Amino acid sequence: MNLLAIESSCDECSAAVLKDGDLKSVVISSQLIHSEYGGVVPELASRAHMELIVPVVEESLKKASTSKDEIDSVAVTYGPGLAGSLIVGISFAKAFASSRGIPVVGVNHMEGHLYSAFLEEDKPEFPFVALVVSGGHSMLIHVRAPFTHELLGQTRDDAAGEAFDKVAKLLGLGYPGGPVIDKMAREGDPKAFKFPRAFMDGDSFEFSFSGIKTSVLYLLKELKYDPGKPDEKLVRDICASFQAAVIDVLVAKTINAARKFGVRSIVVAGGVAANRGLRTSLQASAETIGAKAFFPRPLYCTDNAAMIGIAAHFKYLKSGMVTDLTLKPTPNLALSF
Ligand code: KG4
Ligand code: ZN
Repeated sequence: MNLLAIESSCDECSAAVLKDGDLKSVVISSQLIHSEYGGVVPELASRAHMELIVPVVEESLKKASTSKDEIDSVAVTYGPGLAGSLIVGISFAKAFASSRGIPVVGVNHMEGHLYSAFLEEDKPEFPFVALVVSGGHSMLIHVRAPFTHELLGQTRDDAAGEAFDKVAKLLGLGYPGGPVIDKMAREGDPKAFKFPRAFMDGDSFEFSFSGIKTSVLYLLKELKYDPGKPDEKLVRDICASFQAAVIDVLVAKTINAARKFGVRSIVVAGGVAANRGLRTSLQASAETIGAKAFFPRPLYCTDNAAMIGIAAHFKYLKSGMVTDLTLKPTPNLALSF
C-alpha cells in the first residue's frame, strides 16, 4: 500500500508517504508568520495552507521517489483543529483521491500523536500507557491493542503546551513557548521558585495547568518584571521552576497509570514530548518500575503527517481501508473508543 498522508489541523502544513506502514518521506512546512502575533492566527493559517499544500505534497512524493499514480490511498486529519485549516487538507485529500478513484480515510489528529512512537525503529509493545501532551490537549490513555484504547484522564483547563506558551508570553519569550522555555530551563535553578502541582493526591489521572500559569503571573507582578528589560538569571530560574512543576505532575501521573495497568511500555507524544527535561525524567522514573519509555524523535512529536500515516496504517490493519467522501472538518473531534 502506497499511502499519502496529509496534516493541516493547525499551523503545520505537512505531507508524508508511507509504503506498507514504513515511512518513505515527510515534509513539514511550519508557518513562521504566527510568531509575531504570539499565537496561531486562524485566518492566516488557512491562507498559508492553501499556498503550501500543493508544493508540500509534491515535495513529499519527490523525496519518496513515488509518482502520483503509484499512490493507492490517502489519509487526512479531519479533527480536532482549526476548521479553516482542516478544510484545506480535507478538500485536497478528497479531490486527489476521487480524481484517481482511490480511498480517502479520515484520521483523528490525537490518534496520530498516539501512534507516532511506531514511526521509530524501537517500537513500544501493546498494551501501553500513553501520555499525549500538546498545545491543545493533555491526555493519559490506556492502549490495549491497536485502535482499542480508553481515556484515563485529561486536563480540566489549560493543556500542558498551552501553559508553556502562556508562560513564555508573560516572560516576553515569543511563540511557541515550549522550545525556548526548555532551553532556558537547562541553565536555571528548578528549586528557585515553588509553583503548584495540581491533583497530586490519590489516583486522579486528571490534569490542571492554569494554576501554575497564574502563579507565574503573580510572581512577575510581585517582582515588577518588565519583559522589555529581562533579567537573564531570573528568567532562567522561572523557566526551570515552572518546567519542573509541569514535569513532576506529568511524570507522577504517567507512572501511576503504568503501575496500575501493569504495562511495560510507556509512550509520550505530542509537542511537549519534545521537552528535554520531560524525556530525561520520565525515562528514569519508568526504569524504577521496570517499564520503558518511548518517545518519538522531536520532529515526530510536533505536528506532522507521518504520524497521520502511521495511525491510518493501524486503522487499516484493524478494519480495512474505509473510504469516506462525506468527511468534513470536525474541530472538536473527540478521541474514539
Ligand atoms: O503537537 P503540537 O505540535 O501541536 C498541537 O497539536 O497542539 O504541540 C505544540 C505545543 C506547543 O504548545 C509548544 O509550545 C509545545 O508543543 N512544545 C514544547 C516543546 N516543543 C514544542 N513544549 C515543551 N518543550 C518543548 N521542547
Ligand atoms: Zn498536535
